[in-house]
Amino acid sequence: MAKIGFIGIGKLGLDCAEVMAEKHEVRGYDIVPRTSDSVRVCDIAELVEESEWIFIAVPTPHAEGYDGSVPSSHMEPRDFGHEAVIDAINRVNANATTSKKVVLISTVLPGTTRRKFITLLDPKHQFLYNPYLIAMGSVKWDMANPEMVIIGTEDGSLTGVAGELIDLYKTIMNNDPRYEVGTWDECEAIKIFYNTFISAKVGLVNMIQDFAMKIGNINVDVVTDALAKSTMRIMGPKYMTAGMGDAGACHPRDNIALRWLAAEYEVGYDLFDTVMHAREIQARNLALFLVEESKKSGLPVVIHGKAYKPDVEYCIGSYSTLVGFYVKEAGLPVAYVDPLSDNKDEVVDTVDHPAVFLWAHNRKITYEYTGDQQDTQPYCKIMPGSVIVDPWRKLPLDMADITVVHYGNTRL
Ligand SMILES: NC(=O)c1ccc[n+]([C@@H]2O[C@H](COP(=O)([O-])OP(=O)(O)OC[C@H]3O[C@@H](n4cnc5c(N)ncnc54)[C@H](O)[C@@H]3O)[C@@H](O)[C@H]2O)c1
Repeated sequence: MAKIGFIGIGKLGLDCAEVMAEKHEVRGYDIVPRTSDSVRVCDIAELVEESEWIFIAVPTPHAEGYDGSVPSSHMEPRDFGHEAVIDAINRVNANATTSKKVVLISTVLPGTTRRKFITLLDPKHQFLYNPYLIAMGSVKWDMANPEMVIIGTEDGSLTGVAGELIDLYKTIMNNDPRYEVGTWDECEAIKIFYNTFISAKVGLVNMIQDFAMKIGNINVDVVTDALAKSTMRIMGPKYMTAGMGDAGACHPRDNIALRWLAAEYEVGYDLFDTVMHAREIQARNLALFLVEESKKSGLPVVIHGKAYKPDVEYCIGSYSTLVGFYVKEAGLPVAYVDPLSDNKDEVVDTVDHPAVFLWAHNRKITYEYTGDQQDTQPYCKIMPGSVIVDPWRKLPLDMADITVVHYGNTRL
């Protein structure tokens, strides 16, 4: 039986503490009076002194008017408040005479723990970031039946204390969840972007509802049910690897045309513009990274793959040429290698000098849903001294005489 303390026994903390109390000795502390049949409510000194594990479930409040119940998209963006978390950490420091395992549950934006909290915690304690995917109305059930348990450590490794937390959770779980271990920052990101995916999904289906109301002869459920059953591409892991942007003969132009439809039917917003604008800026960010690598190494930029995907000749809607556009806009020339591409502008057959390559094509990622697992083979000889920027992060990092950069992985 573990000795556990919960600082903050509000809407989330109290139910979670009571689930823990079914198997363990649990104390709770709050700045307002709370009662419980199974959790011993006590002062902070007793809680810290008596607990080996200290879970922090205090609020990280939004500013007034930032909860989404009234319009706020016109207001200046604001971070959550961190005062209660800082207060809880200070109280642990002030009251602990021995090393504690401190577990922060409260939701914070990516980067917050490392930037704001860790420097405050007495280094004799061990710290984990462990946000919950729990919803009001089903806190106790969610706690014992989570889809995954997210555990953040300093370097993302499964440290001893992270392993101990997993063992602790195993004592209360009704299911056998995934345990996702990452850096504090990755775990902050998993939690908050999980919620964002839900918001984006709901925003999209409600947009279809708006179109149904405006255009006529459309039952939104017929459309969304058909999409919901589309497990090959939409409802599943496909398109969940960050890399090159959406491309091809259909997707970009469909969204560009849908901007017209949104205006024509006066739905009042334009998600397509937002998606397409983000796509362009993402391409520009990648292009500027190539430009930076080129200036650092003194090597020219070559984009490996010009067609919008491997194995086809079509350059229509190509994200490679969009990236190339922004490289040129930044003042550098660009060359492409692609034996198939139907647009030969700036395409070379060989590159007989070292270069900064953008590894735009990845056959395996594009075609593995068909069962085809074969990787992209180089379209030309890559000379020693080259730098390969791999936006798919699949090329090995230990290639002889070639530097591989995994774009999107800042952990290395
Ligand atoms: N409620 C949920 O469904 C849910 C789900 C996932 C994550 N979260 C996150 O968990 C955190 C807590 O959420 P909540 O809904 O339980 O909030 P809440 O306001 O209901 O509960 C927080 C509790 O902490 C107490 N508290 C405030 N400052 C304190 C301090 N300095 N020391 C000790 N106690 C203090 C409050 O009195 C309150 O009882 C937030 O970061 C929230 O985003 C909540």
